[in-house]
Amino acid sequence: MSSHDSRPSNVFYRKLTRSYPRIVRGAGCWLYDADGRSYLDAVGGAFVVNVGHGVREIADAVGRQAERLAYVNGTAFTNDPVEELAAEIARRSPGDLELVYPLSSGSEAVEAALKLARQFWVETGQPARHKIIALSPAYHGNTLLALSASAREHYQTYFRDWLVEIVRAPAPYAYRCECRGVAPLCPSCSGEAVEAAMVRAGPETVAAVLAEPVGGSSTGASVPAPDYWRRIRAACDRHGVLLVADEVLTGAGRTGTWSALEPYGVVPDIMTLGKGIAGGYVPLSAVVAPRRLADALARGSGALLHAQTFSHHATLCAAGVATLRYLRQHALIERCATMGPTFHQRLAGLRELPCVGDIRGRGLLAGVEFVADLGTRAPFPRAARFAEAFASAALDVGLVVWPNVGQADGINGDLALLAPPFIVTDDEIDLIVQRFGEALRATVERIGAVA
Ligand SMILES: Cc1ncc(COP(=O)(O)O)c(C=O)c1O
Repeated sequence: MSSHDSRPSNVFYRKLTRSYPRIVRGAGCWLYDADGRSYLDAVGGAFVVNVGHGVREIADAVGRQAERLAYVNGTAFTNDPVEELAAEIARRSPGDLELVYPLSSGSEAVEAALKLARQFWVETGQPARHKIIALSPAYHGNTLLALSASAREHYQTYFRDWLVEIVRAPAPYAYRCECRGVAPLCPSCSGEAVEAAMVRAGPETVAAVLAEPVGGSSTGASVPAPDYWRRIRAACDRHGVLLVADEVLTGAGRTGTWSALEPYGVVPDIMTLGKGIAGGYVPLSAVVAPRRLADALARGSGALLHAQTFSHHATLCAAGVATLRYLRQHALIERCATMGPTFHQRLAGLRELPCVGDIRGRGLLAGVEFVADLGTRAPFPRAARFAEAFASAALDVGLVVWPNVGQADGINGDLALLAPPFIVTDDEIDLIVQRFGEALRATVERIGAVA
């Protein structure tokens, strides 16, 4: 267990059996390690660094706020940055989503959103509504309620006894369903499966449907059909269920619009944001909710019972304000929208390479699914560790990607996700594609795969 520079380390690393390059600087889409190697960050760290590394305006805003007022407790006080952040997010949010509860991580935001849904029903006289419907595959975080909602077998392995029951519906994952995304759509891709799950569970016992509007790492950026979300919204309305859109990964512009739900013309009852809203400069997330939900709590117990020390944090919120202003001033979400088609067009060239089963996504979010058999779409056996081998080969050629596994059947399945900063240039896109190809050829050679 060590970093690459071989000094003994006290860090409890995320992976205990490998060594890590020590990154000392970032600029734009690039990272630089202590040995002087550079890496093209094609996934913004973890779908986070949407504005690029090394933005002075955001760093300065964090420094100024930390000096003036780093922190006050959110139970006793409000502060300028939290007011400004809430106004910035409310301005961009659809429909009646206008109240913003800032936290730090996406997992916390998901937990708080689900608690808000549950508390709302208890306080408005429908305490039977406690069930959560979530899609499979899906990812919503790693704290225990968020992990329960995440259909991710391997993360749950040691903790099943601690998790709560979640009602599952199959995710709209066209590459791996009966209809393959072609009309007439199967129940998973049309959204019918979600309403069917609601009906089976007993709608009067369902508190919320929780879902990623465009798939994140779990379905490798699968984009639901144009009518999908209208159908889910209608089902929620019919059965009085709250729709919680988890936009932790897709929000703040990643798919070319502020929220991934926006092009579907659908407004959720609660939205979660995270990752990109502070561009990685600080950890910041948020629950965005309508006044009608908060008012119900105000008339009852008087508060959402989800207090955390670092909610409404002045310095974190200042970073969020600076990031959102930077996005606006430099028209970066618009840039993400215009670069998206170029990005996907160039990535399409990778279909010629071995083992590439599918490439999909929207805006500057893309998933590349690797398969052992292009015809049957059979995944590699997990023992081959294809996605991990690919991510490691990519790092060797100076490319950072996000690997994901298990999406095919809970255990097998290999994906590489790409999500470059919105400032990515044409030349950098070409370099991403070139290095991706090099890494894939090296992986195929190493594993001896030939699909
Ligand atoms: C859709 C979605 N929700 C929630 C989370 C959890 O966020 P965090 O890792 O910040 O807790 C993630 C993280 O990848 C995510 O992609």
